[in-house]
Order: sequence, then structure tokens, then C-alpha cells
Amino acid sequence: MVCLLKTSQSLFTSIILISSSPVFAAKRALQPLPLSRNDRWIVDANNTHVPFVGVNWPGAAGTMLPEGLGYQSIANIVQKISETGFNAVRLTFAIEMVDDILDHGGDVSLSGTLTRSLGQTNGTTMLGKIISNNPQFTASTTRLQITDAVALELAAQNIYLHYDNHVSNATWCCSLSDGNSWFGDTYFDTTKWIRGLSYMAAHGKANWPTFSSMGLRNELRLSTTGASTLQPYTWSTWKTYMTEAASAVYAANPDILIFFSGLDSDFNIEPAVGGSTLLDPAFSFNVASYEWSNKFVFEMHEYDESISGSCTIYKTILNSFGADATTKTGSGTNRAPLVISEWGHDETDASDAYQSAYSICLSDFMAEMQFGWMLWVLAGSYYIRSGTQDYDETYGMVSILRPLILELTG
Ligand SMILES: *[C@@H]1O[C@H](CO)[C@@H](O)[C@H](O)[C@H]1NC(C)=O
Ligand SMILES: *[C@@H]1O[C@H](CO)[C@@H](O)[C@H](O)[C@H]1NC(C)=O
Ligand SMILES: *[C@@H]1O[C@H](CO)[C@@H](O)[C@H](O)[C@H]1NC(C)=O
Repeated sequence: MVCLLKTSQSLFTSIILISSSPVFAAKRALQPLPLSRNDRWIVDANNTHVPFVGVNWPGAAGTMLPEGLGYQSIANIVQKISETGFNAVRLTFAIEMVDDILDHGGDVSLSGTLTRSLGQTNGTTMLGKIISNNPQFTASTTRLQITDAVALELAAQNIYLHYDNHVSNATWCCSLSDGNSWFGDTYFDTTKWIRGLSYMAAHGKANWPTFSSMGLRNELRLSTTGASTLQPYTWSTWKTYMTEAASAVYAANPDILIFFSGLDSDFNIEPAVGGSTLLDPAFSFNVASYEWSNKFVFEMHEYDESISGSCTIYKTILNSFGADATTKTGSGTNRAPLVISEWGHDETDASDAYQSAYSICLSDFMAEMQFGWMLWVLAGSYYIRSGTQDYDETYGMVSILRPLILELTG
């Protein structure tokens, strides 16, 4: 089966806008690692600005495998990423994979994880498809070995690997009740989380040539599980665990950038940017006081498609939630690089998808402010998502559906 590349207006607009940056246009040797933070900029080993222009590649759902390998080889997928103009991939993972490796008798094989997630019959069918597209794998290749193969191919095609901890318990993210929401939630054991981050930071250092950066946790949010171990939903709690995790990652791998997401599903980083908040007077945050200060990056997610017309108001709202991170001044504040590590929209919504006020406004804002960004999402489908197998991703950039729809509707 062939996956065709679907190029949306928003994607084109953004790549064209970002491409006007001379660094990016000066195609496409990889800027030398390690990357660091210099004030508001992400810079390469030579202190030259690095524009992050990436795409999300999910790998944290039930199977804990990078998605799409039943349809394409890793090399083909990475080639599409490269041809489209991206220089980074945000690959997502679940802490559960590391727990399996360290506590439950080792990593799980390709056949084991597919059978467990899809059942015997469909698991075996999918195993056949993955191996036929990727003949370097066998039934006993492990999930981590497959991740390594993705990392090596990204390196071979000059793409940075940003490794994002999406969840603890491998599942489609992010509801308020999935047990992965907040520190101490049902599955969000903070000790195992920090252990898992350290393990993967060290593993990547030893094995992934273009490992640029790591995201500590995707979309922290209020939890409604009522788990007895849940920590208070405050910025003080955020600081306690995020700084502890960052220090552990830095100890395991002092080269990579460390991305900090905020609260409210990463819509809000304002108190961390400002260094304080009236809502939590005990909270104060000073990036410069940490040993990893030159690796610090903010990330935000922006999905609001509800704006109709007023781009100015939309930008003002984003700034009030911390998108002013790159321009912030004043004592006690934390000016730093910002990467919009998820944005995108439903590509099947013909009324909105191609010219939506949201994507044009946001792309314009990101280019104007020279934020990094990562589109949600590459994948056309999931092995299994929320219980449905071969689930089609309507936000997906690569899809067999969209070109067909265009063909049918003229
Ligand atoms: C670093 O920058 C200098 C001066 O612009 C340049 O001569 C050199 O080639 C650069 N090195 C790398 C590794 O990009
Ligand atoms: C197995 O795959 C078939 C289609 O190939 C699908 O109809 C069926 O629902 C799948 N089984 C499960 C348990 O999802
Ligand atoms: C993950 O969640 C599922 C239920 O959704 C549960 O059966 C499983 O045991 C969980 N795994 C871990 C490691 O907690």
C-alpha cells in the first residue's frame, strides 16, 4: 500500500515562511550538535541559530512502536519527512517501555507487543506487514531496537531526533482521567518517570547520532482520577518534579536540550516565563540558577481553531499564556527559546482545513517570532488507538484518504 503525501496550505505556508530564514534555506547539512540555548535562541555547536522545523511521529500508543511501519519502510517515511523540508522529528514514547525493560524481564518483541495489543490474528497479520516493509526486522526484534533503527535512519538523512515522553502507561493521550495527567496520578509514578527519562537520555547518547533534545512530559494537566498519590495541581509541584527530572536527564546526558512544557495541556507556560504567579505565591523559578540553564527550552501546544478573523487577539491571548517567552524582559523573568511542539488541525475538514484563520495566523506568528515548531502529525494511522485498530488519523500529514477525497470531489 502506498501512502501519498498530503500537503496542506498550512504546512506549505509555514515551510515557505520559515524557509525565508537564510539558515534553513542554506540546505541541509545538519547543523553541528550538540545544541544549546543562547538567551532566546537554540544554537548549534558553532553558536549559529538552529530553526527547529519538525513533525510529530507517534510511538507511545498501545504497541509502543513508531506508527506506520505496516504501510512503509522507515527509510521511505524518513525520506518523505526530509523532502518536505523538516529538520526534526518529535518521536513520542511511554515510560512503560522502560519499566518493562528494567522491571518486567526485558523489552518486548515485535510479535509480543503486536499480539498483546491487536490479538493473535491481527497481530500476526500486522507483524507480516511490518516485516515485509522493513525486512531488517524479525518477530523477535524489540521495541527499543526498532526505535534505534528509526534514530539511525533520521541521522542518515540529517534529521534531529527530539524524544518526547508522552505518557507513562502506553495509551492514546490525553484525557483528564487516563491516569497519566499529573505527578502522582494512577500511572504517573514520578520515580519511575525520572528513571525512564534518565535511561532513555543515556541510551540515546550512546546510540542515536542526531539526538538533539528531550521533552520531559507531554501536556501536563488536571487529573480527575482522584488517585491517593496525586500531588497538588500547582506551579510549585511542577517546579519540584520538572527541575528534578531535568537534573537527572542532564546528569545522564549533558549534551541534549531539555524541553519544559507547562500546565493546562501545555497551553500555559506564563508563570514559568514570568518566574512567579499570584496563584501560587510560594512559586519562584529562575532558570539561570540551574546547571542545565544552557539547555533549557520552553514548549507550548496550540490547537485553538476557534478564532474567526482576529489574528491580533489570538496572538495577544497566546502571549498572555507565555508565548512572549522569547521577548520577555525584567528581573526575575526567564527569557528562553520557545518551540510550538504541537499544532495542526483536522485535515479532512474541507470547510476549514486549507485556509483556516488559525493556521495562517499561527504560522505567521511563529515565523514572525522565529519560534521552532513541530506539526501534529505525520502518521496516517495507528496500529491501535482507543481500542480501534488501523485507526485513521485525520490530523495526519501522510494519508491515503485525503488524495482520494480530492480525486473524488474534483
Ligand atoms: C563555525 O563558524 C565559522 C565562522 O563562521 C566557520 O568558519 C566554520 O566553518 C563553522 N564551523 C562549523 C562546524 O559549522
Ligand atoms: C482485526 O482486523 C479486522 C480487519 O482486518 C477488523 O475488522 C477487526 O475489527 C480487527 N479485530 C479487532 C479486535 O479489532
Ligand atoms: C496500563 O493501563 C492498562 C489499562 O488501560 C492496564 O491494564 C495496564 O496494567 C497498565 N500498565 C501499567 C504498567 O500500569
